[in-house]
Amino acid sequence: MKILMVCLGNICRSPLAEGILQHKADLLNLGWKVDSAGTGAYHIGEPPHHLSQKVAKGNGINISHQCARQFAKEDMEHFDRIYVMDASNYQDVKRMSKDLWREDKTDLLLNELYPGENRGIPDPWYGTEEGYHQVFDMVSKACDNIIKKYSVTTTII
Ligand code: 4NP
Repeated sequence: MKILMVCLGNICRSPLAEGILQHKADLLNLGWKVDSAGTGAYHIGEPPHHLSQKVAKGNGINISHQCARQFAKEDMEHFDRIYVMDASNYQDVKRMSKDLWREDKTDLLLNELYPGENRGIPDPWYGTEEGYHQVFDMVSKACDNIIKKYSVTTTII
């Protein structure tokens, strides 16, 4: 499985999502490749936000090596699943993918936790550290469900 996590800046939410899912998949030796990207270009080349790094580290996950990049339409071909953090990320990814857009590959991450509800993961960028802990908890639960759902298929194949 190759999975891409997408948010706006690729410095707060999607780096956490990348780190959390990669960590869980590695613990189970699933051989999954997890990456992340932003729809915006504001933070290209930057490491994750210091509070994303701090909250990840407090949960035993190192995301300090990550480097922000922008979503590219070819990502739509390269990855098996693309998870976006909120509805505006979804619209941006759809628009940026142009002729390569694949609705069947793309979904809101929280639909893995609350199917069909189209809930977004709030952007913690303007808030306090508490917001980053909330993002971590939501993402972690959604990633548990992704592992359950797709590790079965991976094992059979
Ligand atoms: P993210 O948060 O999409 O979770 O990485 C943001 C980071 C930066 C900005 C917006 C959202 N910004 O406007 O610079």
